[in-house]
Amino acid sequence: MDSPSHLNTRVQVQFRSCPTGEPMSNAALIDQLNEALAWELRAMNMYAHYAANVRGIHRLQLSPMFSTEATESMDHGDVVRRAVVKLGGVPVTERHPEPIVHTTDFKEMLKHSLATEQQAASVYHEVLAMVEAIDDQDLYDAIEQIYLAELRSVDGLLMLTD
Ligand SMILES: [Fe+2]
Repeated sequence: MDSPSHLNTRVQVQFRSCPTGEPMSNAALIDQLNEALAWELRAMNMYAHYAANVRGIHRLQLSPMFSTEATESMDHGDVVRRAVVKLGGVPVTERHPEPIVHTTDFKEMLKHSLATEQQAASVYHEVLAMVEAIDDQDLYDAIEQIYLAELRSVDGLLMLTD
């Protein structure tokens, strides 16, 4: 392996079967994709909220950053939504119920952003395992790209909150 990227190293885990060892059904995968979609819908709202509410000198940089994250969540949600439809499911329309904490304090915002990205990475890790079990390379590649983006966000937020 000649790639120096720690991100690449982290995603070399190969999934040989679904986590339960049972044959993977589309229904289980659709449920997990809908879980990811619900988190993306929540992330979109949270980041848009923080982009509008962040106060102080850091607003100059963090408001655009939160706006970019909101757009990224919308884009991820779109990929996942289309995957649900392709698999014959109905995409959720409601965001995940985990509360979005209102604050104007950038440090609080970054803390909640980190928790959200870690949650997203965990959900997509599960999705990847399930997609591998149904042997759909296009879907696997699409979800892997999202998973890598979530890991990059986690790394960036860890540095911002250090
Ligand atoms: Fe995302």
